[in-house]
Amino acid sequence: MVDVAVIGAGQTKFGNHALGLKGMWAESTENAFASIDGDFDPSMVDEAFIGSIAFGGGQIGNTAALLTEHTGMDNIPVRRVENACASSGFAFRDAWMAIKSGQADIVVAGGIEKMNDLTPERKRFWLGVSGDTEWERLAGLTFPGTYALMARRHFHEYGSVHDDLVNISVKNHMHGLDNEFAHIRKDVSFEKAQSGFMVADPLTLYDCCPTSDGASTVILAADHVAKKLTDDPVWVLGSGAGSDHLALHDRPSITQLIATQRAATSAYDQAGITANDIDLAEVHDCFTIAELMATEDLGFANRGEGGIFAREGRGRRNEGQVTINPSGGLKSKGHPLGATGTGQIVEVFKQLRGEVEASRQVRDANTALTHNVGGSGATCSVHVFGRDLK
Ligand SMILES: CC(C)(COP(=O)(O)OP(=O)(O)OC[C@H]1O[C@@H](n2cnc3c(N)ncnc32)[C@H](O)[C@@H]1OP(=O)(O)O)[C@@H](O)C(=O)NCCC(=O)NCCS
Repeated sequence: MVDVAVIGAGQTKFGNHALGLKGMWAESTENAFASIDGDFDPSMVDEAFIGSIAFGGGQIGNTAALLTEHTGMDNIPVRRVENACASSGFAFRDAWMAIKSGQADIVVAGGIEKMNDLTPERKRFWLGVSGDTEWERLAGLTFPGTYALMARRHFHEYGSVHDDLVNISVKNHMHGLDNEFAHIRKDVSFEKAQSGFMVADPLTLYDCCPTSDGASTVILAADHVAKKLTDDPVWVLGSGAGSDHLALHDRPSITQLIATQRAATSAYDQAGITANDIDLAEVHDCFTIAELMATEDLGFANRGEGGIFAREGRGRRNEGQVTINPSGGLKSKGHPLGATGTGQIVEVFKQLRGEVEASRQVRDANTALTHNVGGSGATCSVHVFGRDLK
């Protein structure tokens, strides 16, 4: 079966944008086209998948057609993909499958969200739409509240403590400091991260991702085309996905995400590797407890030992076996919901090609992983990438 490569990737800065949807998409996609060696003609693209929740209701219908017409991809099949915060991770998987099936040779996967042109009350409404409406949202449970329940339970079952989460926050702010695309570029000390204002007990400001605007675009190609268009492809070695009950109370455990475990197992199996082979991972740290649980679910730490992993600083850039969230993660780089999944792939593409700022480069980066979660874990995609085909 055909192998699939990423041949180009680009994004806007994540943060507060004056640009609207069309402007952000144009900037991100032009950056992706420009990252391909030589001239790339957008009319070569066969199909496009764009992840978005349509936050704020800006453009819910026909979003993908609205965007692609502004970037030279005329008359091709396009569609919006929605899986909450995992929308563009799944857009990428759909693009990969379109090439694997033999239906397309060059496919665009991307994501976009405009979150900051709403009042705080409207933001809270739109952040809530991806929870279980009947059992969670209408009862007043927010996403900070959902992840706070997970954190409390993890503390109770495994003895992890809030300072473990503080370590994750400090690490991700440190990683994002030199990232020109990051939303919150602040040097956050341990003491400062310990004393943020309470959002949902035990999670404080420094445990939460910010609300960000942004867009990200990735260009995938079949092996025979990729080799003609670039000398430096990044290969997709595995694509896994999973799902779970939407409401927390239906899950047998709230200290692990079954969707992540299933997605990771499938991606590792396809790639023929284990967690020990991963040099860097962009994981979905919408809240610091989400990163702690992901280190366990992805196999970097044993069950219940995510707190110890964080305490020992094992995810810090170039200090342990794996660097976790070299971009700064959602915590520092930002979280424009629909744009986050392909934004993670932009980071991994650049890291594997040695194209990030020297201060941020992960040493000997050969194999990388992205982990994109929808809401509290009802959907998840995991992708494994390599410099070489195995
Ligand atoms: C944490 C949160 C409540 C803070 O919102 P807020 O109180 O309105 O914050 P503001 O926008 O007023 O910003 C206040 C300050 O904190 C900073 N800030 C905002 N969010 C931040 C965050 N998450 N981490 C660190 N600093 C943050 C701002 O830059 C600002 O700093 P300044 O005063 O130096 O400019 C909000 O970011 C949030 O809801 N995050 C979670 C989003 C979410 O649920 N996403 C879906 C995940 S599933």
